[in-house]
Amino acid sequence: MPILTVKNLKKYFPVYSGVFQRRTGWVQAVSDVSFEVEKGETLGIVGESGCGKTTLGRCILGLYALTRGEISVNGRTVSELNSARRKELSKNLQMIFQDPFESLNPRQTIRQVLEEKYRIHDGHGLDLEKEIQDLLEKVGLLPETLDKYPHEFSGGQRQRIGIARAISMDPEIIVCDEPVSALDVSVQSKILNLLLRLQETMGLTYVFISHDLSVVRHISDRIVVMYLGKIMEIAGADVIYDHCCHPYTRALLSAIPLPDPGAVKKRILLKGEVPSVENPPQGCRFNTRCPHAENLCREQEPELIAHRDDPAHLTACHFYN
Ligand SMILES: Nc1ncnc2c1ncn2[C@@H]1O[C@H](COP(=O)(O)OP(=O)(O)OP(=O)(O)O)[C@@H](O)[C@H]1O
Ligand SMILES: [Mg+2]
Repeated sequence: MPILTVKNLKKYFPVYSGVFQRRTGWVQAVSDVSFEVEKGETLGIVGESGCGKTTLGRCILGLYALTRGEISVNGRTVSELNSARRKELSKNLQMIFQDPFESLNPRQTIRQVLEEKYRIHDGHGLDLEKEIQDLLEKVGLLPETLDKYPHEFSGGQRQRIGIARAISMDPEIIVCDEPVSALDVSVQSKILNLLLRLQETMGLTYVFISHDLSVVRHISDRIVVMYLGKIMEIAGADVIYDHCCHPYTRALLSAIPLPDPGAVKKRILLKGEVPSVENPPQGCRFNTRCPHAENLCREQEPELIAHRDDPAHLTACHFYN
């Protein structure tokens, strides 16, 4: 049984405008997204800014009411849980943010930040001091940092605090929303390695959100490529890199710089801007920027269909189905 199932998830936000602030439309942040995640797996989610990655992550965490669809954790539908079970679930599902600084209270020392978690989830009977020392060690921070404030730390250290806070409740699933995007490249790989190590020792399952395909490859087992709130392609990380089918995935991949400066790679430049999610294009959502679009693509939306020789590889494109 998958640890996390997302089924036909839709999340629309109302758009209000005019003097009377009437609702004039909907932002279709996530439309009809389905996937499963196995225990211990890392599912990468990539796509350009505004394609709905954070909204999807927040829906998984139960921070938004779903417009439609269903999310299940360990086979239990989240919306059907009673409040006690929901509290249990909120321990089990945690999030790591892009900028931990924004989510850390500047007036709280790290000790207070970490203790708070235990207080919220009644950590009665725990040896708090020992728990916190253990946590620090797990994320590679020194004990003397406990009484410092967030602004006294570097970006990488702050992210370690964010990770400590996320793992403090011993969760099974962590949604990582661009956890290394704000960090220097050298620090990025340290944090990614820390996440990998914790995954191994704690058996964690990650949903790893990033706009950067090279970061996602490093950490993911499978990758979901999103465009304007929809899934364009899903496949194993290596398949996405070596045999991707969707023209959008190919364009994203072609934008990654090659490690060898002498190597030549043809960059696929996408024309036009990302259309608005309030008024997405008819047919295939990618058709206005796709170098191969034909009439069919403007008229009919392609379904996300599995490949005959690889059932785990799904593509939503008329010409690759
Ligand atoms: N609370 C909200 N109310 C209204 N619209 C929202 C809200 N949150 C997100 N949106 C809209 O939904 C769309 C998807 O946003 P989201 O933040 O999920 O994208 P993203 O893929 O995480 O982008 P980024 O890479 O910039 O973080 C955007 O058009 C955004 O403006
Ligand atoms: Mg985001």
